Amino acid sequence: MDRIEIEGIKHLKGNIRISGSKNSSLPILASSLLLHDKTIISNVPNLTDVSFMIKILESLDSKVVFNNSKCQIKSSQPKSLKVSYDLVRKMRASFLILGPLLARYGYAEVSLPGGCAIGSRPVDLHIKALEKMGANFVVEDGYIKGNVKGKLKGCEVLLKKISVGATENLLMAATISEGKTVIKNAACEPEISDLANFLIKAGADITGHGTKTIKIRGKEKLGGCEHSIIPDRIEAGTFALGVMGCSGKIVLENLNNSICDHLKKIFKPLDVLSLKKKNKGQKLVVEKLNKNFSGVKISTKEFPGFPTDLQAQLIASLIKSKGKSYVKENIFENRFMHISELRRMGANLSQDGSKVVISGVKQVNGAEVMATDLRASSSLIIAGLMAKGKTIINRIYHLDRGYENLEQKLKNCGVNVRRLS
Ligand code: UD1
Repeated sequence: MDRIEIEGIKHLKGNIRISGSKNSSLPILASSLLLHDKTIISNVPNLTDVSFMIKILESLDSKVVFNNSKCQIKSSQPKSLKVSYDLVRKMRASFLILGPLLARYGYAEVSLPGGCAIGSRPVDLHIKALEKMGANFVVEDGYIKGNVKGKLKGCEVLLKKISVGATENLLMAATISEGKTVIKNAACEPEISDLANFLIKAGADITGHGTKTIKIRGKEKLGGCEHSIIPDRIEAGTFALGVMGCSGKIVLENLNNSICDHLKKIFKPLDVLSLKKKNKGQKLVVEKLNKNFSGVKISTKEFPGFPTDLQAQLIASLIKSKGKSYVKENIFENRFMHISELRRMGANLSQDGSKVVISGVKQVNGAEVMATDLRASSSLIIAGLMAKGKTIINRIYHLDRGYENLEQKLKNCGVNVRRLS
């Protein structure tokens, strides 16, 4: 199993080209199942999660060509509407094909995703919303089998809790359902707007995306389209937090204005971190300033708040800061697997339920550590950069799910890093 060996570094310095967003690519790839004509998607990151989604599409008889960040897809009526446990267990986002399959073909069989390292992560909101639109579900042999008599019917759905995935499943399904659908308490993440913009290009009638109320008028069918995926704000935020932990100056490239503004806003409490937009937001210069820092209090929240997907990296970046910092996780119940690994490197962290107190220490030391989920793994990379000596991170297949060319990007910033097979 591959491992990464990384050496601590004092200053990060260099340029990093940010890849297309993983969390946009997955629903957009899933929604290609709704389109009758050819779909061309560019700026798609080469990640294992993207390969899983492509495998799912291929298992549903779509023709997919993926190279040089460009994905060309032509869907066709699948011979089987079943997606196997083997594909779903590798990636929860596989569940995103449920809405498109039910809307277009009236039937879908998808393995129910189990729990995962960051909590139980149920899918009840997806199911309830699709039921309200007329789908019927049974669970048999670990699979959820959904069918629709006729077509899904548009209606008003109030999501009890804000859910990115449920909003996406519902949004996709509603584009070719009968009549009007209103999603209330919808997620507002930029990745939802990216999905909506993609679907609009293919002929969908969607308004209000990016707000808590999304309105969709169902169309008979969707055509094809070309679309470029938005930049990955979580990848960009991870590198920015690397600078926060180590110091230095990096230039993040291939961004856009609104993602830069979002990053500037969420990192505002970290007042030693300077973020400056360049080239109309195409670039963001991230620099650690030489001034005192007395700790922060940050809670994760749905967009536009501080993303849960940066919580682990934030904690790592603070382990050598002066004073005490407080981080609270509000989205997932158990997203703290990184804590014990960071402690093994000498971090002083105490956890009480969803709250973590970080008491800064002068030095952390390299160690052999274990990656447990995608973002926990990137927090170990940050801690490895901050540590004295070498850190070896095991189970890095988690990192390959969400960070494209990670080693090369780190090398571009002067980091001594290598993959051990
Ligand atoms: C997506 C992101 C993930 C991110 C998360 C929150 C993708 C591929 N993944 O995951 O990186 O961390 O949003 O920003 O885009 N919930 C329910 N019932 C449901 C669905 C969700 O109770 O049916 C709960 C979850 O357990 C969690 C919360 O709602 O506590 C938010 O989850 P959700 O927004 O659905 O996350 P995902 O879409 O799985």
